[in-house]
Amino acid sequence: MLVSATEMLQKAKAGKYAVGQFNINNLEWTKSILLTAEELKSPVILGVSEGAGKYMTGFKTVAAMVKAMDEELGITVPVALHLDHGSYEGCYKCIKAGFTSIMFDGSHYPIEENIAKTSELVHVAHNLGLSIEAEVGSIGGEEDGVVGAGECADPDECKAIADLGVDMLAAGIGNIHGKYPENWAGLSFETLAAVQDKTGTMPLVLHGGTGIPEEMIKKAISLGVSKINVNTECQLSFQEATRKYIEAGKDMEGKGFDPRKLLAPGAEAIKATVKEKMELFGSVGKA
Ligand code: 13P
Repeated sequence: MLVSATEMLQKAKAGKYAVGQFNINNLEWTKSILLTAEELKSPVILGVSEGAGKYMTGFKTVAAMVKAMDEELGITVPVALHLDHGSYEGCYKCIKAGFTSIMFDGSHYPIEENIAKTSELVHVAHNLGLSIEAEVGSIGGEEDGVVGAGECADPDECKAIADLGVDMLAAGIGNIHGKYPENWAGLSFETLAAVQDKTGTMPLVLHGGTGIPEEMIKKAISLGVSKINVNTECQLSFQEATRKYIEAGKDMEGKGFDPRKLLAPGAEAIKATVKEKMELFGSVGKA
């Protein structure tokens, strides 16, 4: 069931668990994530970066595929189709394409401009029944061409953006996209607590979910995080399983070259990763 992310995140915030956002790249990714959410009776958010949207030939293709797949698989759990780290133009494209949720990442603008653009998009999104995520501070590292320095968010700026009526807020707290470096200082719980203090019931978003130790994830949820984004970890699971299949020579046996066979171990590995995360985030049975 395709819905905006508003209700599922408000429930998560009140129930002290988090909904996973899993980024999609293609049909296999989408199918694995939807089937796992349905099996575990968990709400789920499908994240689409601008790069992944382009790869899949455009946001219209993505929206059509996700809507049809949701229907054909008989998915009953709430599913939000969400733009990840959207530009101003990208947000409008996704609204037009039929996404149910958008993220406007205005974190690289001066705060006044971030506020002005976010405010405009909040009105447009809400008028059409979409949910909207905004960002303050920045997520370190690089994801599909979006580069961030990783500075921690200013809690007062978070309050200013939250007051615009966004449905979820990504605040930089030392989190990084991709694998964490050996010398990573960890999440800044001090910043998270200060942001939570200023923003009250606002569902907070933790980006860079790959490689954050379990205890830190649990602590972040206890301090108000209600949405956690995972991208790289599914890619690594897919890669490892596919590598094993090929290295074992299975693609050379019988019809092992059939893409439906070749991609099957990777698709199963994505399912296992998504299941593990949903269990850790506490969203199982919450649909
Ligand atoms: P990872 O790739 O580190 O899991 O981050 C995902 C993310 O934050 C998507 O916006």
